[in-house]
Amino acid sequence: MEIFIDSASITNIRKWLKMGVIDGVTTNPSIMFKDGVYNAEAGAKEIAALVHPRPVSVEVTTNDLDEILTQAQRFASWATNIVIKIPQITQEGVPCYGVIRQLEIEGIKVNATVALSLGQVILAAKAGATYISIFAGRVADEGGNAPEVIRMAVDWLERWKYKSKIIVGSIRSVGDILSAAIAGAHIITIPPQFLTKMVDHKYTRDTVRQFVNDAQKALEMMEKVRS
Ligand code: E4P
Repeated sequence: MEIFIDSASITNIRKWLKMGVIDGVTTNPSIMFKDGVYNAEAGAKEIAALVHPRPVSVEVTTNDLDEILTQAQRFASWATNIVIKIPQITQEGVPCYGVIRQLEIEGIKVNATVALSLGQVILAAKAGATYISIFAGRVADEGGNAPEVIRMAVDWLERWKYKSKIIVGSIRSVGDILSAAIAGAHIITIPPQFLTKMVDHKYTRDTVRQFVNDAQKALEMMEKVRS
C-alpha cells in the first residue's frame, strides 16, 4: 500500500517526504486555496520538482469538456510527474470518461476523482484511468459504507485485471485511514494533520521515557562503581 499526502503545503510535503513515508501528493483547488497556493502553475511545479519522480495530482478547474482536455494537456506539460485529476462528471452531471480515455491514449496519467460509488469506479477503470479516487468521507457523509465501497472496488479491479489503482481520499480521522487500509486500498491520501495523529501515542512516549531514564540510571551506576 502506498501513502500520498493530501496537501499543497511545501513545508508539510518536505517534512513527510524526508521521513520516507510518502509516495506521492494529491491536491485539488480547495486544498491549494487553503494552503495559500493561489498560483496553481507555480505551486504545482514546485511540488513536482520537490517530490520527483513521485506523482503529484493536479485538478482541472472547468466544467467544459473541451476546456478540460486542453487544460489537462497544459497542466501535464508542467512536469513529467504531474497526474491530472478529472472528475467522474461535471457539476451538471456530464460524464468525463471520454476525456479520461483521450488523455490516457496521449500518455497523460489521469486520477479520476470524486468517485462516490462502485459504478463510477467501474466506468473510470473502463476508460483507462491510472488512478481512481474514492472520497471516503463524502461517501460516509451520505450514509454510505466507505470501507465496503473500497473493498468491492479493489476486488472488482483485481478480478478483471484492470490497471487502475484506488486512491482513498476525503480522510476525516485516523479511523478512516485504518479502515481504508484494511479494506485493501492501493493508496491512501492523507492530510498532514492525520499523519501527525497516526505517529503519536501517549504510551509510546511513556515507554521511551522509561528506557531513556533507565539508560541514564545505568550510566550513573557504572560511574559510581568505577569511582
Ligand atoms: C483527494 O484526492 C481529495 O483531494 C481530498 O481528499 C478531498 O477531500 P474532502 O472531502 O475533504 O474535500
